Amino acid sequence: MIKKCLFPAAGYGTRFLPATKATPKEMLPVLTKPLIQYGVEEALEAGITTMAIVTGRGKRAIEDHFDISYELEHQIKGTSKEPLLNEIRDLITKCTFSYTRQLEMKGLGHAILTGETLIGSEPFAVILADDLCTPPVTPDPNPESSLPNNQYTNTPITENSKGILTQMIEVFEKYQCSVVAIEEVPMNQTHKYGIIAGNLVDNSDDTYRVTDMVEKPDPKDAPTNMAIIGRYILTPDIFDILRNTKPGKGGEIQITDALLEQAKNGKVIAYKFKGKRFDCGSVDGFVEATNYFYNQSKG
Ligand code: G1P
Repeated sequence: MIKKCLFPAAGYGTRFLPATKATPKEMLPVLTKPLIQYGVEEALEAGITTMAIVTGRGKRAIEDHFDISYELEHQIKGTSKEPLLNEIRDLITKCTFSYTRQLEMKGLGHAILTGETLIGSEPFAVILADDLCTPPVTPDPNPESSLPNNQYTNTPITENSKGILTQMIEVFEKYQCSVVAIEEVPMNQTHKYGIIAGNLVDNSDDTYRVTDMVEKPDPKDAPTNMAIIGRYILTPDIFDILRNTKPGKGGEIQITDALLEQAKNGKVIAYKFKGKRFDCGSVDGFVEATNYFYNQSKG
């Protein structure tokens, strides 16, 4: 059972300057919701209610977002605007949020290790909020079928409406080891991602037993074009491995390097998820996500 989700959210978001000068990049909105809220909703849909957020200086807006704003509540009570707060109110009621600060930016692996104090010694999920993921099909808000509803989100569960994290937890339950989400990228993009190599273990599932992992290789050094996207299920031994992981690519402590240690023992599964993923850490991906969600909202 995965009960906690870690959100590394201390990065500077330099690709969005000046927007991210005083606003955390995780708070940039796609339509009316900040990126991190999409991530929290995805975790909740997967049955996770404990959100652990690794923040840094200048990120207090994230804490304020997942809290009650009494002044605002008072101002809009009884007006036509009040329903606009329903979704976030619902999240705040169903989830708990805890925070710790990463004092120095020493890489994603270091951010995850900083979160150990919030996670403890149990398997946990990781969401990188700037990878915005959606299931293959958005759930029908007015289903006329008798499908069971997700107890957390009250939306009907269909094979096509399962969130990425829900899919990954099913994989974790089967293999009981760390799981990374992957997608194929053009070969000339490998330098932007952790890249895996592995052996197909289950054709129907698109799951691979990982044999190698490299952080952001040049295309000529990339073992494949299968790229890790910002969703992980990690077993807690990762913390001890991270404590001993030397700085890698870019002089940073890389989660990819720590995962390679687990992979050497056959303990990492890569899962080709079903759905769409937008790289909202880039302006192009952000615009694409905005257009996609806008079109979805118009039906
Ligand atoms: C991080 C990881 C990388 C992974 C990527 C997914 O890189 O280090 O392995 O492929 O997230 O978004 P970042 O995008 O933070 O540079």
